[in-house]
Amino acid sequence: MRGMMLAGGAGTRLFPLSQVSSKQLQAVYDKPMIYYPLATLMTAGIREIHLISSPADLPIFERVLGDGQQWGISLSYSVQPNPGGIAEAVLIGEEFVGDQPFSLILGDNIFHGPIGLDIEVAGFVSGAVIWGYPVEDPQRYGVVEIDSSGSVLSIEEKPNNPRSDLAVPGLYVYDDTAVSRAKELAPSDRGELEITDLNMSFLVDGELRAASLGRDTTWLDSGTHESLLESSNFVASVEKENGYKVACLEEVAFKMGFVSDKEVARTIDSMPLSPYRTYCERAIGG
Ligand code: G1P
Repeated sequence: MRGMMLAGGAGTRLFPLSQVSSKQLQAVYDKPMIYYPLATLMTAGIREIHLISSPADLPIFERVLGDGQQWGISLSYSVQPNPGGIAEAVLIGEEFVGDQPFSLILGDNIFHGPIGLDIEVAGFVSGAVIWGYPVEDPQRYGVVEIDSSGSVLSIEEKPNNPRSDLAVPGLYVYDDTAVSRAKELAPSDRGELEITDLNMSFLVDGELRAASLGRDTTWLDSGTHESLLESSNFVASVEKENGYKVACLEEVAFKMGFVSDKEVARTIDSMPLSPYRTYCERAIGG
C-alpha cells in the first residue's frame, strides 16, 4: 500500500507562528511535527510516500526529509497551489496513486499506540476505512456514528449537534476509486473539497468501514496553540517515562528492516552531535 501525507492548509490558527513555517514543520517537543505521521505510515509498513504541501513550504519539506533513502523509503512531492481541502490531495496525488490502494494521513495528526493500520496494509481489499476516537468536543471534527455491530450509520463534518462523540482522525485508507469519487465532489461552504464528502461517497455505496481506537491509543490533532503545546507535553512525558523516543525515524526504519545496521550507522554518522544522535546510537546499538 502507498501513503500520502497532506501538509497544506493556511495554518492561520497558529499565527504568528505560521509566519515562521508551516504548521506541520513546527516543533512537537523534539522533532518537526511531520515526523510523527511519517512514523505512523512507516510503522505500518508503508514505504512509498507522497507528500503534498504549499508552493512556499514544499522546498522546506524536501530539504528536511529528502528522498527518504536514509530511512529506506521513497518520498516524492507535489504542490497544492491553494488550500483547496483534504480531498483535493487525492486529486493532486492521482498519478502517484495509480491503481493502488493508499493511506492518507494529515501532517498535523499524531498517533501513539496501536491503530491497526498495519492490519489494513496487510489485508486491505477494497472500499474505505476510517477510524473513530472518543473526544469531548466532537463539533471540531468529522464525526462518525457507528451501530453496535460496528457499521457506519452516518458521518458529518463539524456538526452543531453531533450524533456521537467519535471524532474521525486524519487517517484514511482508500481503494483507487477514491480518485474518481473525489472528481465528483463539489466545494463546501468553506470552499474546500471535504474529506467527509469523499467518505460519504463510500458510505452511500456501503463501502465505508470504521475502526475504533481503543484506550491504549492517543490521538492528537496539533492545529491550535493549545493542542500544539499539549502534543509537545505528551511526547515529552512519554519519552521521559519510557526512556524511548516517539517517532525517531532512524529507529523505526531500522526496526522495520527498511535499512541495514550499516546503512543506519551511516545516517547517524552524518548527524550533528546532539541528544537526538546520542539516542539513535543507543537505540540502534541496543
Ligand atoms: C479535518 C477534517 C475532519 C477531521 C480532522 C482531523 O479537519 O475535515 O473531518 O476530523 O481534519 O484532524 P480540519 O483540520 O480541516 O479542521
